[in-house]
Amino acid sequence: MSRATGSAPIGIGLLGLGVVGSGVAQILQERAAEYARTVGRPLAIRRVLVRDPQKPRRVRVDPRLLTTNPDDIFNDEGVHVVIEVMGGEEPAHTYLRRALESRRYVVTANKEVMAKFGPELLAIARRRGVDILYEASVGGGIPLIAPLKRDLLANEITSIRAIINGTTNYILTRMAREGIDYAVALAAAQQLGYAEPDPRNDVEGIDAAYKLAIMASLAFRTQVRPHDVFHEGITHLTARDFRYATELGYAIKLLAIGRREDHSIQVRVHPALIPLEAPLAKVDGVYNAVQVDGDLTGMVFFQGRGAGAMPTASAVVADLLNVAHGIAQGAPERFVWRADPAAAIKPMEEVTTRYYVRLRVPDRAGVLAKITSVLGERYGISIASIIQKEANEADQTAELVIMTHEAREADMRAAIRDVGQLDVVTEVGTFLRVESG
Ligand code: NAP
Ligand code: HSE
Repeated sequence: MSRATGSAPIGIGLLGLGVVGSGVAQILQERAAEYARTVGRPLAIRRVLVRDPQKPRRVRVDPRLLTTNPDDIFNDEGVHVVIEVMGGEEPAHTYLRRALESRRYVVTANKEVMAKFGPELLAIARRRGVDILYEASVGGGIPLIAPLKRDLLANEITSIRAIINGTTNYILTRMAREGIDYAVALAAAQQLGYAEPDPRNDVEGIDAAYKLAIMASLAFRTQVRPHDVFHEGITHLTARDFRYATELGYAIKLLAIGRREDHSIQVRVHPALIPLEAPLAKVDGVYNAVQVDGDLTGMVFFQGRGAGAMPTASAVVADLLNVAHGIAQGAPERFVWRADPAAAIKPMEEVTTRYYVRLRVPDRAGVLAKITSVLGERYGISIASIIQKEANEADQTAELVIMTHEAREADMRAAIRDVGQLDVVTEVGTFLRVESG
């Protein structure tokens, strides 16, 4: 790689020209003069890696820049920074390694690769004297990685609670507002292009688990891998759960929760009831929000657009400008991530929280006694309230909504299993965790 000296442009190899890549290319074109002043050197896209060079693009790019051969980027001595906006694990992971090994600075929006291989890539960057920046990998346009790396560094961060997947937040918002079922809300999200034709990564909480792994690794200075994060999706929620939750004073949100305890860290993604007055309960539609609690700052709240071409490109280009400015000055700032000796990840079974349980039971005397006996006497789970809802005249059943005090997850799961086997329980409906505000 040639040194970017004098007034020579800082060369960029762009991997991907889809939603985010087109946004990046567009703003680099439109703001070229301004960015050259900021950096002290012009920025030039030298090549763009795509799968199909013939595809119509959202942005006008000189067709001669497009290539399907990654060597055109990695063998080009004039490429100083590689921007990866392809997505997916492979070949993106291999290309990121290759870029760092060849001493290129790297900017990526890839949460899957950063969640799975972040520490490995950061170590390569350190060894080769370069850096990898990944602000766009979590929360699109919301600044989250830089605050966790730098601005909140003086704190001991005690918890992160986040709505970090816009697709699911849109679906849950429609279900809550309109009383519609999951399948109808999902179809609407797909029609608007928020949800993918195959929505599993979003609706099963996998996307949020990647993002939580990245944030928790920074916040708790330990390596949290995607498989450390318990995740449960939103597909089992019904319109009735939203109605009952509202009556009880709660919203239902897909939360990503990281919490530091004395000797361990909780990392979990699941739908949860959260008081209607809590800041996270008011985050609706495709918006994301992250609430960080630091011992010095107290609560800090970040909110904004977690996806979309321009918000995400904003984060990518900000990382690029930082790196390019450093290269132009001859002294790029480098982030060094050092994990504390591994803090243990608490198994989900050991987590304690409050619970909401919906059951269908025969509408007759003696039912409650049997259920409360399993919860209280067999598992020591204390009931905070029981409400009987919606008697069904036709089959003489009623719905019960039970709210518990804090209980251990393993006890709660065993109690639900046993309750489901009682002859007085027709159906175990939804079982959700309850968070405080
Ligand atoms: P996208 O629209 O699917 O674009 C992917 C681009 O990468 C396309 O230009 C594609 O080429 C190219 N590409 C994919 N695999 C390739 C391969 N094997 N070889 C060469 N080129 C390849 O994806 P996106 O929505 O822009 O997302 C990009 C990244 O940003 C992902 O990591 C995503 O998680 C992250 N992100 C996206 C958003 C968002 O709002 N979209 C928000 C936050 C983060 P062709 O165009 O020729 O097919
Ligand atoms: N699929 C993600 C979401 C966007 O719905 O939030 C990219 O991170």
